[in-house]
Amino acid sequence: MTYAKILGTGSYLPANRVSNDDLAQRVDTSDEWISSRTGIKARHLAADGEKTSDLAVSAARRALEAANLVPADIDLIVVATATPDMQFPSTATIVQQKLGISGCPAFDVQAVCAGFVYALATADAYIRSGMATTALVIGADTFSRILDWNDRRTCVLFGDGAGAVVLGASAQKGIILSRLHSDGNYLDLLKIPAQIADGAVCGTPYLQMDGQAVFKFAVKQLAAVADEVLHAAGYTAEQIDWIVPHQANERIIAATAKHLGIGMEKVILTVAEHANTSAASIPLALDAGIRDGRIRCGQTLLFEGIGGGFAWGAVLAEY
Ligand code: COA
Repeated sequence: MTYAKILGTGSYLPANRVSNDDLAQRVDTSDEWISSRTGIKARHLAADGEKTSDLAVSAARRALEAANLVPADIDLIVVATATPDMQFPSTATIVQQKLGISGCPAFDVQAVCAGFVYALATADAYIRSGMATTALVIGADTFSRILDWNDRRTCVLFGDGAGAVVLGASAQKGIILSRLHSDGNYLDLLKIPAQIADGAVCGTPYLQMDGQAVFKFAVKQLAAVADEVLHAAGYTAEQIDWIVPHQANERIIAATAKHLGIGMEKVILTVAEHANTSAASIPLALDAGIRDGRIRCGQTLLFEGIGGGFAWGAVLAEY
């Protein structure tokens, strides 16, 4: 049996760190309001001219280095992003060009904050089926460009960043099982209702969100999909060494962990320093946990994410 095994990880955060106190100088908010509701203390924002693909390439180079591989070894590139450099071509092809790779399939996955679990599950399916042997899976977003910086209900919640994973075909256990879901009936809860048409931006090009409805939906569906993936794989929650969740809100993360009966000491938490980096948040957290030595070879990881669509999913993997 062929598994998709994590061979290396990398991540990148823009240099500009903006604390809650810094933000409170720009909008009517406070560190107390933001951190008590979300756990967020700071976020990193991309510099002028720094694009999603630039963040993605920096993370990818670090992941390749960690895997002891070079760009030419890659035969599949999947980029999860909701903030592509351009309407088209895909950010994956831009990353491909910047890394000097040519010929292999490269495409974007659009599942907003669930993007990384979608991308991971997709690359896993390619590797299991023999359509790829060495995949670069990236989550990268620059939400600072799609926020209304006068809307305190949303602008305090997000940050920019990228994380990357190199997956390789292996006889050793790697990704065990994935479960993905979406339900377009909930599309109005979180959206940017705009498009480029007739030579103009039509609609409102800023993120809109019903925060309380998103909170309730996320808590319910993340618990359900975590149960589903464990049940389908024949695993119990006690066998999970680390939850590596999408980092939107510490209270949502804690609710999923509590549902599974897993203590917060087994959760990789980066939301305080990164805020919600959308598709980048899970691979950023994974890379942090691996590089600081908490996540070790042979351990069992549960990735879970949810985002606009609504789309959500979970991936169980052995590292
Ligand atoms: N600073 C200060 N006050 C703020 C504020 C801010 N940044 N944002 C909103 N407020 C105010 C509101 O105006 C409201 O004031 P009012 O009662 O006078 O009208 C009050 O705080 C409460 O707002 P509310 O929206 O009810 O807060 P909440 O407790 O539901 O928390 C969220 C808001 C967004 C933090 C919370 O709903 C949440 O985390 N939701 C999930 C969002 C998420 O994770 N999205 C990404 C999913 S991938």
